[in-house]
Amino acid sequence: MKFKIALVAALAALLGGGLQADPVALMDDVIGLSKTSVFDDPVPPEFAYSTLDPKKSGVLPRFWDEAPPQIPHRLDKYLPVNAKTNKCLQCHDDPEVIGKKVKGKPTPMSESHYAKSEDDELVVSNKRYVCTLCHVPQADVEALVGNTFRGE
Ligand code: HEC
Ligand code: HEC
Repeated sequence: MKFKIALVAALAALLGGGLQADPVALMDDVIGLSKTSVFDDPVPPEFAYSTLDPKKSGVLPRFWDEAPPQIPHRLDKYLPVNAKTNKCLQCHDDPEVIGKKVKGKPTPMSESHYAKSEDDELVVSNKRYVCTLCHVPQADVEALVGNTFRGE
């Protein structure tokens, strides 16, 4: 009986203590990545993707050797990429000159983008068909979340 009472008392102390703990006040503007109140409806800053024609775009710096190069030119004219059409291939699919930079010509996709057919020919790999999964267009915007990552 004594034990039972002690147990009930301990439970009451625990519950009571729990209820009495100071609530930690978290303001709604520090809960998420957006540093505004959850009741605000903020308008994101406007930005525009590059409108440069491929002929004039040049290339952008690469962050590290194996990083997928960023797309330096406009994209709107060449999308969507789907089973019926892939305009990227019209300019970047050139297995004859893989790894060679021909002046005035688009960089050819590297060998990693191809698979070998039964006749030992290079065919565009299905894994690399949807170019925009890995290559992204660029716009002049601030990073939403800062980071200290450095490639080589
Ligand atoms: C009309 C031809 C053309 C089309 C279509 C085109 N590109 Fe390009 N692309 C270029 C040219 C020209 C360059 C810049 C010169 C270079 O690659 O050296 C370039 C550059 C790039 C680069 C950067 C290469 C590097 O070495 O840094 C990537 C990535 C790229 N394009 C991806 C794409 C994707 C993805 C698509 C389809 C959505 C596409 N391109 C459609 C012509 C084209
Ligand atoms: C699964 C991710 C992925 C997909 C999908 C993809 N790429 Fe790439 N791409 C890469 C990576 C990673 C590199 C850099 C390393 C390499 O060359 O394999 C690259 C390199 C390139 C290069 C530069 C080649 C060089 O010699 O420097 C071009 C151009 C390119 N890709 C175009 C394309 C096009 C066009 C498509 C669509 C048909 C495409 N990529 C699809 C990941 C991808």
